[in-house]
Amino acid sequence: MRRVIVSAPGKLFLLGEHAVVYDGHALLTAVDSRLTLMIDHDPDATTPTVTIHAPNVGLDGWSASLPEVLTRTAYANKSSFIESCLKRFHEQTPLTGGFVVRTQSDFGAELGLGSSSAVVAATLYALAQLFAPDTNRMTLFEMGLDAIQRVQTLGSGADLAAAIFGGTIYYVNRKPRHVIEIPLDDLPLLIIYSETKAGTVNLVKEVRARYRRYPAIVEPIIHAMLNTVEQGKQALEAEDWPTFGELMNVQHGLLHALGVDTAALAEIVFTARQHGAFGAKLSGAGGGDCAIVLATEKQQAALQTAFADQHRRVLPFKPHADGVRVETAPIS
Ligand code: MEV
Repeated sequence: MRRVIVSAPGKLFLLGEHAVVYDGHALLTAVDSRLTLMIDHDPDATTPTVTIHAPNVGLDGWSASLPEVLTRTAYANKSSFIESCLKRFHEQTPLTGGFVVRTQSDFGAELGLGSSSAVVAATLYALAQLFAPDTNRMTLFEMGLDAIQRVQTLGSGADLAAAIFGGTIYYVNRKPRHVIEIPLDDLPLLIIYSETKAGTVNLVKEVRARYRRYPAIVEPIIHAMLNTVEQGKQALEAEDWPTFGELMNVQHGLLHALGVDTAALAEIVFTARQHGAFGAKLSGAGGGDCAIVLATEKQQAALQTAFADQHRRVLPFKPHADGVRVETAPIS
């Protein structure tokens, strides 16, 4: 029996959500809310089986034969992402034997921090540790994007890139897709939950429908968003927070114009600005999930009080976290 334990971080969009879907680019940071995944591999299993214990998605001992998993073509279960990763990995490096997969997460899917991408990143990284330890992160990313697109056709891959590479990244969703890691000493962000779970796939479809209906309006909005990302990259590299904050405010306005803002997100954003933050915006698909606020440590203390008064949850996670990595503590 061989055992490997790995973990992958959650993610936040800093700039470029939605626009990245249209052959665009985005800035993201990994957050230190982690999904841990452990695989026990039995190379000599007489009946090769895949068993999954993933309480965060409601799987408690789900099981199927390995040949069934490796030949599946349609996915509709909670096990889909792990199954799709096993199949995609097998196409590169043949898998045999029995697999018991366990996951444990510090963050639920309701926060919108990219729990599915973290599962995909962790599954492929764990398989690579067992069968092909020289696999580089870009190859893992490409396999992961294939695995995700077999389960859900939509998706830019930005969340997955953040989970695999970690840190803070500039992600380009055009061929050849690539990731530029941005070194930072500091990223003074607060993450505030809007208390609503967003439906990412529906929001991406809604924006696409609006794009088709009003191309002359939506096209320039997307273009402006991508320019905001470009200028944001320079400000981020220089750790120029006043400029980056202003660009976050601009991006929030553009996301509002796309129709993905909510009253709760807008309230968080305006509270942050009124209390002296450099900038604030919704992060991710919108329609709920989290907002991010850029503010000095001193401003953050005042903001913590303002959000507490509004009964808003400031999430305890820090940005610029490690990407996928090996762990030692087993999942019980
Ligand atoms: C969702 O986290 C981010 C979107 O840009 C969709 C995607 O990038 O796949 C809205």
